[in-house]
Amino acid sequence: MKQAEQKGKRIAFVTGATSGIGRATAERLVREGYEVYGAARHVNQERQNVAQGVRYLAMDVQNAASVDAAVSSIIAETGRIDILVACAGMGIAGAVEDSSMPEIERQMDVNFLGAVRTVKACLPCMRVQHSGRIIIIGSIAGRIGMPFQAFYSSSKFALEGFVESLRHEVRKYGISVCIVEPGDFKTGFTGSRAKAELSDTAYSETFRRVIGIQEHDEQNGCDPSKAAEGIAKLLRRNSLPARRTVGPGFQRFAAFLKRVIPYAWFEAFYRIYYKV
Ligand SMILES: NC(=O)c1ccc[n+]([C@@H]2O[C@H](COP(=O)([O-])OP(=O)(O)OC[C@H]3O[C@@H](n4cnc5c(N)ncnc54)[C@H](OP(=O)(O)O)[C@@H]3O)[C@@H](O)[C@H]2O)c1
Repeated sequence: MKQAEQKGKRIAFVTGATSGIGRATAERLVREGYEVYGAARHVNQERQNVAQGVRYLAMDVQNAASVDAAVSSIIAETGRIDILVACAGMGIAGAVEDSSMPEIERQMDVNFLGAVRTVKACLPCMRVQHSGRIIIIGSIAGRIGMPFQAFYSSSKFALEGFVESLRHEVRKYGISVCIVEPGDFKTGFTGSRAKAELSDTAYSETFRRVIGIQEHDEQNGCDPSKAAEGIAKLLRRNSLPARRTVGPGFQRFAAFLKRVIPYAWFEAFYRIYYKV
């Protein structure tokens, strides 16, 4: 019998576990009693010491072979995967016209295809064990198109459709899937964002103003432990809802408002807020 089965521990796998929401979630799940494996592009001893209890595996969500290898090594060690939290992600920003195709492709590859690769690698094990819970980290920007973040928003909108479809396919195998949609959180995300910094284009002045507002909101956002708490709470349920927003109240309210008021009114509110 495998080690973790003997101990009766539930196995969780968290991608993007080196920083921000993913790291807070991995550490929270350790405290909740899970055996937690965390994906990191670069594994080192220092990181192992920082996130106590999280067992790091080297994995790049852009590389299918590394995703398959990481998932296979968890299964070889423990015999199962109970929880997947697909959190790895990054953002690009800039006007559509100013964004380069390689950057656009990277955005979709990390945020959308990266989550798809990870889910596909975990599904066979979850299907055979006839249980599993998958949490995909989307964004409120996947419910509302953000100005000057067309491709980040697109990558998160794509995940919304992916989750809705997947839920239908895997329910009969005891697998439930949820997209958690964070509003603004104060993490490394803002600093890692790749900006289309073209000194003088038709859009540069407006872009700088809008990204300034967006980055200010992120840096004054919630602590990632709040998202981890929301995720831990969801995982105490027997089955997962399709989607759940987490983060500042007024942003969660905005996602609700978009569903209930005429879109032209909602869009006008956004234009005023971002001064576009
Ligand atoms: N912060 C916010 O306001 C906010 C709002 C809505 C949604 N989100 C979403 O929340 C998730 C986590 O973001 P965060 O705010 O916690 O940002 P963060 O602190 O920058 O963390 C991002 C994580 O993703 C990992 N990552 C990036 N590219 C990767 C790749 N190619 N392969 C494997 N791992 C990769 C990073 O790992 P490395 O150490 O290897 O770079 C890091 O662990 C993202 O999906 C983001 O879109 C964040």
